[in-house]
Amino acid sequence: MNCDEWIQALWPVGGSYIPYEARRLYRLTQETPEPLWIVEVGSYAGFSGLMMAAASLERESSRLVLVDSWGVYPHGSSDLDHLVRLLGHAQSVGLHSRFSTMRMKSTEAAAVWPPEAKIGLLHIDADHTQKALLEDVEAWQRHLAPGAALVLHDCYYFYDDMDLAVTEIRSRPEWSGWEIVETQGLLRWKETL
Ligand SMILES: C[S@@+](CC[C@H](N)C(=O)[O-])C[C@H]1O[C@@H](n2cnc3c(N)ncnc32)[C@H](O)[C@@H]1O
Repeated sequence: MNCDEWIQALWPVGGSYIPYEARRLYRLTQETPEPLWIVEVGSYAGFSGLMMAAASLERESSRLVLVDSWGVYPHGSSDLDHLVRLLGHAQSVGLHSRFSTMRMKSTEAAAVWPPEAKIGLLHIDADHTQKALLEDVEAWQRHLAPGAALVLHDCYYFYDDMDLAVTEIRSRPEWSGWEIVETQGLLRWKETL
């Protein structure tokens, strides 16, 4: 199946992605060099994560990990049902073997992530408050491979908090080597080498 066929197949999963964003995520996943890892933080019922899983089908090993508290996080909107839905959808479209899940808070997952497993694409779509986004970005930064892409969802629609977080990140010396290279739909940062 091509990208648009995957969007159609996964559309019933629901979520807030527009097709343009889904296509970009698919393409960015395909472009991530092997053997780097691909991580999504905030998967809910799985639309974006499964788009990434579909895009990784031609990779030798998918090395895709979906991180979500799925109910563990006290202020989260989701619960275990969404994980069950995600796994059911994955099974029904044959993507169940293309990813692993970490059911824990983002910062906890980053803390136990193996330092040698460098990440080439990190997609964050979790808690959209300024504080949480800053914590997530800080927690995962050390796992990013040189030249990695950091992609944030929902930056430009309803979330002033995310704009504040992005401004804060840009002002920090440890992010001086990073530039925003894409702002339509998804906000993509790339480390300049
Ligand atoms: C906007 S939804 C993700 C939507 C998903 N990307 C999609 O395609 O439908 C946000 C998800 O982030 C999760 N979440 C929020 N804060 C989190 C945190 N600190 N750690 C892990 N997951 C978190 C919630 O449980 C929820 O499932």
